[in-house]
Parts: sequence; C-alpha cells; structure tokens
Amino acid sequence: MAKGSLIDVVRGALSSARAKDSLAHHDARYQADGSAPEIDHGAGAEHFYNLVTDFYEYGWGQSFHFAPRQRGESLSASIARLEHRVASRLALQAGMRVLDAGCGIGGPMRSIARSHGASIEGATINAYQVERARALNAQHKLDGRCSVVLADFTQLPHPNASFDAAYSFEAICHAEQRERVLRELARVVKPGGLIAGTDWCLTEAFNAQDAEHQRVRRGIEEGNGIAPMITIAAFEQAFASAGLELLEARDLARIDQREMPWYEPLKASPFSIHGLRRTSAGRQLTTIIVTALERAKLAPSGTRATAEILNRAADALVEGGERGIFTPLVFFVARVAGA
Ligand SMILES: C[S@@+](CC[C@H](N)C(=O)[O-])C[C@H]1O[C@@H](n2cnc3c(N)ncnc32)[C@H](O)[C@@H]1O
Repeated sequence: MAKGSLIDVVRGALSSARAKDSLAHHDARYQADGSAPEIDHGAGAEHFYNLVTDFYEYGWGQSFHFAPRQRGESLSASIARLEHRVASRLALQAGMRVLDAGCGIGGPMRSIARSHGASIEGATINAYQVERARALNAQHKLDGRCSVVLADFTQLPHPNASFDAAYSFEAICHAEQRERVLRELARVVKPGGLIAGTDWCLTEAFNAQDAEHQRVRRGIEEGNGIAPMITIAAFEQAFASAGLELLEARDLARIDQREMPWYEPLKASPFSIHGLRRTSAGRQLTTIIVTALERAKLAPSGTRATAEILNRAADALVEGGERGIFTPLVFFVARVAGA
C-alpha cells in the first residue's frame, strides 16, 4: 500500500520511539558549525530519514528526487524520464548487476528494473527504508531482481568489482567527503564500468560572502539533512580525486536547459489533490492536521516538528532555485579506470 493518508504517515517510521531521538539528533547536528569534523553525517542521514521517509512518500511518491520538468508533464512522469535517462546512459540491460547508492525506498530501482531489465541492489543507511523498500519490491513482484542492504556507501560491504554499473540519485550530497563515496563506487564497479546519476550542488552564482546566500544554503542543508554543500566545480574535482574519469557533468536545472523550473511542484497552485500536498498551502494544511493528531496523541511526539522542518526545507529549496544559487540536478556520468 502507498502512504495514501497522513494516518499512514504517523503510523510508520515516526511511530517508533525513535522519532524524539532522531529529532534531537537533527537539531544538535545543525546547531553546530556544519564543517566540524566530529559531525557524523552518516548517522545524521540515518536519523533524518527516520523522520521524513513517510512524509516524502506521502508528498512526493516512491522516488525521492527532483527531475527536469516539461510543460504538460506530470511530476511522476518527469521523475521516471530522468531515471530512464540515467539507465540508458549506463546502457543497462537484462543480466547486468547494478548498484543503487542511497536507494531510499527503491522507487528508482523498481522503475529501472522494469524498463531496462537489470538486477539492482540498493544500499541505504536507514533501516526503516530497507524494510519499506523490501515490502514494495515484493508488492511490485520485483523482489527477484531488486534487493536492498543496510549499508553506508562510504564503506560498502561488497567485494571489489561486484557490479557492472552503479547509479545514485541525490544521495552523495549526504556525505561530507563526496570523494569517499565515489571511491567506494569505483572500487565495487568493474574496471571500465559506468557510474551515473544526479546530485545537489551550489552553482557559480552562489556568493559565499553574501549573507542571504548563506542563509538559503543553511536552510537547504538543515531542511534536507545533508552535509555542507559544495560547488559544481568541487563536485567535478571529487571524481578526479576518486580516480574516476568524468565523461559528462551538466546542470540540468540551468535556465537555458529547461522548460520549467524543477521547484515548480513545491510552489505551484494545486491542480490535483496529490499535488496539493507539496505546495505551500498544502504543507501548511498538513502541519495543522499533524499538530491536531499529535495533540490528540494519535501521532507521536515529533510529528509536527518534522512537518515544520520539511516546510522550511521546501521554502529554502524554492528560494535557492529562484535565486539560481543551488541545483539538485547535476547530471553526471563517469567511468571506472581499467578494463
Ligand atoms: C534524497 S534520498 C534519495 C533516495 C533515492 N535515491 C531516490 O531517489 O528515491 C537520499 C538517500 O541517501 C541515503 N544515504 C544518505 N547517506 C547515506 C550513507 N552514508 N550510506 C548509504 N545511504 C545513504 C539515504 O538513506 C536516502 O536513502
């Protein structure tokens, strides 16, 4: 069953006693200076996704990433189109073994396995996501070709050269040292194999001396539980440092590359009940409902605070997008050396 109602959301991951702990961890993480070496961003992501996984599924669907939008196209169609673009660039086909690094609840994995026929193993650092992804894989009759492990993608449990290819949607930005993730991907993919996906970066319009830019940057990092953001140029450099040959890096959010803004679903007027959930008005309504549920002890303590984190996140994302200082859509393709 999809997370169709807010009752499903408050009975999911949040209903465990971990909600309070995870919230405390999240607050502590972003009170500190984001660049402090003692911050464990892996543990941070684990806690963050205890809080938000069901809200994401309720508001966004089973794939937790943005996509380049075309006029007249639904959000889910644009998400699927990006997933197929990545899979096609990797030339995935039946019989190939593929890693999904930072797989969420497996939306991309199921869509790619169905359309391209590969066998896909997802890795996520959050145990609730593993459970949810496995249930959905079984529900979609894809559990023969889609599997999920609880693992940190900066230290994967797989032997060298385990996969023919790897992809990642909007997950590498959770690691403070992007290079560590890329090195692991380079190790577990066979020599000559391809790695592709999309990730979040600051654009060249970001000015570190501008207090407003820094406010928006911090809002995006805190609201989305990610590590300090880096520029597109620094992200490109991380591939070289990890020993990967970067074949393509392109910001799909650039005004000259797009028909519609990627952040439109977070602000547009609602055309459907499902769309309403993502908009500013819909998010305010969600907050009112979960506040009432929490007061009535029908939702665990921490539900309202989580909804508020997500509201602030959405506002910061829209502001970052409108100012052009941030992109969630750096599309990359890299090749592992050798072969
Ligand atoms: C924005 S979600 C994207 C999920 C998925 N790629 C999708 O598009 O649906 C980021 C994902 O990265 C995972 N993640 C963050 N840090 C991780 C780490 N150190 N190791 C493994 N997974 C991690 C999170 O658990 C989450 O599943």
